[in-house]
Amino acid sequence: LHTAAALKKDGWQVVAGARSFANQPGEGEMGYRLALDVTSRDSVKDFCLKAEELFGAPDVLVNCAAVLTLGAVEDISDDEFKNVLTTNVIGQTSMIRQVLPLMRAKGHGRIVNFSSINGLMGIPFQSAYTASKHAVEGYSECLAMELAPYHIEVTLVEPGDHRSGSQAYRKRAQSLSPCYADAFSAAASVISHDEATGSDPDKLGWIIARALRKRRMPFRLRIGRFDQRLAVVLHDILPAQLFSWIIGSHYKKQVDEGRQKSHG
Ligand SMILES: NC(=O)c1ccc[n+]([C@@H]2O[C@H](COP(=O)([O-])OP(=O)(O)OC[C@H]3O[C@@H](n4cnc5c(N)ncnc54)[C@H](OP(=O)(O)O)[C@@H]3O)[C@@H](O)[C@H]2O)c1
Repeated sequence: LHTAAALKKDGWQVVAGARSFANQPGEGEMGYRLALDVTSRDSVKDFCLKAEELFGAPDVLVNCAAVLTLGAVEDISDDEFKNVLTTNVIGQTSMIRQVLPLMRAKGHGRIVNFSSINGLMGIPFQSAYTASKHAVEGYSECLAMELAPYHIEVTLVEPGDHRSGSQAYRKRAQSLSPCYADAFSAAASVISHDEATGSDPDKLGWIIARALRKRRMPFRLRIGRFDQRLAVVLHDILPAQLFSWIIGSHYKKQVDEGRQKSHG
């Protein structure tokens, strides 16, 4: 919503899609709202046709829709895992497949795929989301190479924690094995805290709008707090076990504080 609103303010004709827009179609502060479910091929087709009827072939596609289900690897069911992959990965590829013929016919275009710093490193209890964002990273690299001859640019947005409010309606895996309960509850509270105190999503929207004004878009836009961007660099240079210990300690903080309290 913040990105769509920033683009609209910056003068773009925006058609914004979400499932909830089925109940509130029409013009809004983030552009023209249309119902869209990226997991449904018919909905994707319908959305793209209506958007084209409104404003013609698109100059830019921003793939932002994503879901996150928190849970231990052992507890997340196949269906829960598939739902995350279908929305976050197949949703993006369906949208891209639909707009590419229009962009190629135009002779140019830009595709902005939302990844995450979780597309570059893992954190505990977000395995499905992390796997999906790693997939987005990989296929976006392939896409950029394939589309370069057609003057269609690809950009990966890699946000750190932002205050989008999504932790309020975040899904959790249906089951939680007792052996993971303490670690899960600590990690979930750290994740909520980090998001609630995260970066400003309006600023993220403006960074994307500013990048879209440039003659060439960067391939990667890593947006977020310094420590989170640093974590990605450390992930690439530190021995894996040391990095794992550092990240693991961060997500255990509350457990340790709790233990200290109960022993204190
Ligand atoms: N917030 C963060 O800290 C953070 C960090 C890194 C990356 N990101 C990425 O940034 C993007 C936005 O995240 P957010 O935090 O703003 O999440 P959010 O508040 O949950 O927003 C997700 C959006 O995706 C839409 N959506 C979900 N499933 C959909 C579907 N099947 N079809 C169409 N639209 C769908 C939702 O609308 P409906 O439910 O109405 O469909 C909603 O507008 C995501 O790609 C996320 O992975 C966020």
